[in-house]
Parts: sequence; structure tokens; C-alpha cells
Amino acid sequence: MGGDFLLDPEVAYLNHGSFGACARLVFEEYQRLQLELERGPTDFFTRQVARWFWGAPEQPGRLFEARAALARFVGARADDLVFVPNATSGLNAVIRSLRLEPGDEVVTTRHEYGAITKTWEFVGANLVMCEPDEIVASIGPRTRAISGSHITSPTALLLPVAELCAAAREAGALSIVDGAHAPGQVPLDLEALGADVYAGNCHKWLGAPKGAGFLWARPEHQAWIEPLVVSWGYREDADFGERHGWAGTRDPAAYLAVPKAIEVHASFQPDCQRALADESERRLGELGFPRVPGEPAPFMRAVELPAGDPVELWKRLYAEFRVEVPVYEWEGRQLLRVSIGPYNDEDDVDRLMAALERCL
Ligand SMILES: Cc1ncc(COP(=O)(O)O)c(C=O)c1O
Repeated sequence: MGGDFLLDPEVAYLNHGSFGACARLVFEEYQRLQLELERGPTDFFTRQVARWFWGAPEQPGRLFEARAALARFVGARADDLVFVPNATSGLNAVIRSLRLEPGDEVVTTRHEYGAITKTWEFVGANLVMCEPDEIVASIGPRTRAISGSHITSPTALLLPVAELCAAAREAGALSIVDGAHAPGQVPLDLEALGADVYAGNCHKWLGAPKGAGFLWARPEHQAWIEPLVVSWGYREDADFGERHGWAGTRDPAAYLAVPKAIEVHASFQPDCQRALADESERRLGELGFPRVPGEPAPFMRAVELPAGDPVELWKRLYAEFRVEVPVYEWEGRQLLRVSIGPYNDEDDVDRLMAALERCL
């Protein structure tokens, strides 16, 4: 489908959903930023990147500019959004800051990303697990929060988050949205969506370098969300951006490359990605592997395979056929998830089909 990426041409890479992949232009910008940093680490950190920490709050610096560009892309005010390394970190900050009272319930789905469910378990949350279409009916008087994915990881479904957030609001519960797969795959307007808190990744479908995610919160929730790492921004009068904006010395190049990723993303062809995802789903269906029911994500589809050993099949597809696609167990079923990145074409899908016909 095009685009200049750095992926191994020998591999039919059908797993953009797990870790994304950077276009060459974005990766070059990322490396250019790293080299710039190494030429003058002190200048880069103190005068260029985070000036507002180092005595010049009137000159917000390049990190602030990158944040503003991302805020525009996701339909948010820059003040309500902070960079975090990934969606897991953003959601950890939220979940670990929320002081649950005994008896509080958190409504979530069986389709969530495992690390986030683990984080709720870590804080001892009383989880009400349901199917996405049961969320609204599962909200009750004890519901403190609903926690759901905009696009689910194991099943690749697009959930009606605006509707779910509205239902939570009406019931006086918080809505916490895991948007790891959304930026770059579906258009976002966070101001309009109605969530209380939203965490997303730029390194998946937006194509930023690994380690670029964000946490967004409505102004009324920003005070209680503690940063995972307490550092210099943790001051009495600090705002959301300051408290979360500096987590000790770390490489900010992935964050700073986000504006380039947004620019390059504009050259992708979402209609082609969607059409190829539809085509993959159709062909997998013809082989007897039906898609998990529900509204599908635009560029990702999960289908059910006959019972078998998913790890074995996953290994075989890569080792024998050079097809990179995740196969895994979910709720007692064997699923395979195809992701169509901006670089995939029909040949990749042909290779997957041929490999599956041989293996199954
Ligand atoms: C729905 C969902 N949430 C969270 C994550 C975690 O993303 P990260 O590892 O970048 O934090 C993923 C990763 O695939 C995901 O699919």
C-alpha cells in the first residue's frame, strides 16, 4: 500500500496493532532529535525541551509545542493532556490514584488489555466483568467507575465509548477510557467524547516512535491523578502538565517526534487500510474463521480459529512462513488478529491465507 517503512521486507508484518511501526521519515526525525540531545544534553533539556521547569515559564519549550500539536490532533486543550511513555503508564497513574472505598465497583469488560485489568486487581478493585453490550446495564449504585477500551485489544472491536461515557456520567460514575489503539485509527475529539479520563498511544496507529503515549483528563479530575513518578514538577500550585511533565532524566525524543508522526500520518490512506482489513476478514471467513461479533475496528480484525495450540501456530507462522500475526487464547477460544498497517498490501494477506491453509 506504500509508505517508506523500516520493516524487514521478508516478513509479512500483520501486527501493526501490538507495537506500531515507524515510517522512515519519523524514525529519522527521532534519531535527529537524539543526536541533537547528545550534542548538548544540558542545553537540550534545560533551554530547549522543558524551559518551563528551568526558570523560564513564559517560554514553554519544545515539549510543550509537541504536546500542543498532539492536543490539536486529538481534539483536546493542551493543558488537559500530558505525555506519558505509554497507555499502561497513563492508566496506572489514574487507577493507582483513585482511592476506592470498600464496596465500590468498577465495571469493565472481558475484552480489556490484560495489563490494565491487572492494574485494577493490583489496587484491589471489585471488578464487574461483562460483555461490552452489558456495560450500561451493569452500572449500579455502587459503580465508582467504568473502565473500557475505545478499541479492544484481543477482539479488535470498536466500542461505543461516547454512549458508555454518557451512561456513566448519568449514574455519577467515572469513565476511564483505554484509547491505546485509537489515535491514528479513528478520528478523535476528546473534548466532545464525554470521557472523564482517556489514555492513548501515539506509537501504534499514529506511527510515532515507541514510548510516546498520553494521558488526558477533564480539568475537574486533574488534581487527584498523581504522577507515577514524583519529581520537580510536584509543587503545591503546579498544574497537571507540570506535575506529570518531568519524571527525571529520560529521552524525550519519542515525544518530540510526535508532530512529525502526525504530519506523516496525514499521508497514509485509511480507506485502503480499511478495505484491505475488510478483504482479510472476508477471506478468513471463507476459510471458516469467523470474526468476533461486534463493530470491528477499522484496520484490525480478530477471527476465531478452531481449537488448537495458539503458541505453536504463532511460532510456526513466523518460523516457516515469515508471517507475523498474533495468535492467542482468549476466553477459552483461539483467536488470530490481523492488523493492516499503512505498508501492508494484498501480498501480505495472500501469504497469511496460504500459511493458514497449510497449517490448519
Ligand atoms: C487496549 C490496550 N490497552 C493498553 C495497551 C498497552 O499499550 P502500551 O504497552 O503501549 O502501554 C495495549 C497494547 O497493545 C492495548 O491493546
